[in-house]
Amino acid sequence: MDILGISCFYHDSAACLVRDGNILAAAQEERFSRKKHDPRFPKNAVAYCLKEGGIEPRALDYVVFYDKPFLTFERLLMSYLTVAPKGLRSWLEAMPLWLGRKLHMPKVIQNEIGYEGDVLFTEHHEAHAASAFYPSPFEEAAILTIDGVGEWATASYGFGKGREMTLLKELHFPDSLGLLYSAFTYFTGFRVNSGEYKLMGLAPYGVPRYKDRILSELVDVKADGSIRLNLSYFNFLGGLRMTGRRFSRLFGGPPRMPETEITQREMDIAASIQAVTEEIVLRMVRTVHDETSQKNLCLAGGVALNCVANGRVLREGPFEDIWIQPAAGDAGGALGAALSVWHRYLENERIHPKGHDGQKGSYLGPSFSDEEIMAFLDRSGYPFHRLEIGRRAKIIAGLIAEGRIVGYLAGRMEFGPRALGARSILGDPRRGDTQSLMNLKIKYRESFRPFAPSVLEEKASEYFDMDTPSPYMLLVAYVQEVRRLPQSSGDGMPMLERLKARRSDIPAVTHLDYSARIQTVNDVDKPDYHAVVSEFEKLTGCGVIVNTSFNVRGEPIVCTPRDAYQCFMRTEMDALVLENCILYKEEQPVWKEGKDWRSELELD
Ligand SMILES: [Fe+2]
Repeated sequence: MDILGISCFYHDSAACLVRDGNILAAAQEERFSRKKHDPRFPKNAVAYCLKEGGIEPRALDYVVFYDKPFLTFERLLMSYLTVAPKGLRSWLEAMPLWLGRKLHMPKVIQNEIGYEGDVLFTEHHEAHAASAFYPSPFEEAAILTIDGVGEWATASYGFGKGREMTLLKELHFPDSLGLLYSAFTYFTGFRVNSGEYKLMGLAPYGVPRYKDRILSELVDVKADGSIRLNLSYFNFLGGLRMTGRRFSRLFGGPPRMPETEITQREMDIAASIQAVTEEIVLRMVRTVHDETSQKNLCLAGGVALNCVANGRVLREGPFEDIWIQPAAGDAGGALGAALSVWHRYLENERIHPKGHDGQKGSYLGPSFSDEEIMAFLDRSGYPFHRLEIGRRAKIIAGLIAEGRIVGYLAGRMEFGPRALGARSILGDPRRGDTQSLMNLKIKYRESFRPFAPSVLEEKASEYFDMDTPSPYMLLVAYVQEVRRLPQSSGDGMPMLERLKARRSDIPAVTHLDYSARIQTVNDVDKPDYHAVVSEFEKLTGCGVIVNTSFNVRGEPIVCTPRDAYQCFMRTEMDALVLENCILYKEEQPVWKEGKDWRSELELD
């Protein structure tokens, strides 16, 4: 039984193929179309899933869409009527897509993929909840989903047991923690729906001096974690911008313009909204615990990508363990929708997970064989060397230990926003200059955020104050106290200088507050990558390496060897690993591009 899940037309389109309840393939459209957060119909991702499954579209048993378009249409219509005629412009801009495509989804889907069978729909938060619970390692668990907005719901909770999932309560638009966070993302000059990570990373630079103002003016937080927004401050009902003039007055002036200097105000705002968000999430989590009496919690929805809040839920929350869907945003809705059809609609039992999740490390995308790679390299005339299996990890680790920056493409591409060692750029975390080198010469950005560490799962607690695995880089924990170095307050210092101060023996991955966004690596889900980190530890005594996504700013993470080679040549990366082949920069022919490629990337 083959079920294809689809999410699209909002943000970050994706497709997922589930065969007999097993996640066979999942990928975001942006990786194929090379347009970041591509919201269009995921025709390339669908084609990939069908190819991976070895089937024709006609052979699919069901196709399911992760959202009920009519309910969303109703919300948009009602929201418009609430503020009419104020929101007319944004309303008119949204309408052609709605009338042309979204309301006719079954026909659109059938035509796009050449499928004639039934098209099913799940509710948006049902898809998020299913994406959190069904692949989780728990036989039963509480479920909490928090995002911007689905049809009407902005958060929901319930519990899952076996194949059953029961959703108990929802919070409704416009009261939305995701939209509240996004309003601040906009106000601090970052891109809504993708810059939320930056706002979170900015928070340790600031002092939460606006926290009380946010709580007294903008949002009423109830004891159970439900919220009520004061709509006189926001513009998302009617406008194209998220915040209005009253909002600006509350925070001492207009929003920061994108790409301009980040001042102490933005840092303090970031610290404040992050503190408010953590408080709301922790309250919600406590309520879910009280209402469900479960030991374990599953999380999804865009807000579940806030790994600082997740770290606090794990440390301070009442749940013993948590599992977060790695594709927690809308891309993961494709996966949730397909699993929901299998378990809820078709009533198939769930196989007892016995403590293992069904996400397969989230390595659910395309892979390339050595034969394919060598054929590509030979055809293109790009010099390479074969890596002997026995020496592969040692050679790569040796390069990293020498301070070289290595592009690494191996195995199936990750599903979800994080690179987990299948499409990553690797570096040495011990060096003081790795952070700025990778930012300025590889990613082409000047970032105030440190990079994330990949650490051997079995050694994670030697480096970080954490005793559970974090394979999906969705938890933030603190560098162990013995590794920390004292630092000055940094007051008055420019922000990039503050980040440069050496804070631990792994400075490239240690944030101002000694926190790190951790990926633990094990030899079951990702043996090739585990071997590289192990060899690095043997060489250096350090079981941690820097792992950043394989792309430059504004570009989706690379998918194919061709994408990887292009990114390798456009940047100052020293070596490129493509499965069992390695390419050295100094041996490559001169790279020429006719046009200015950087001007074609939209800054994120
Ligand atoms: Fe969502």
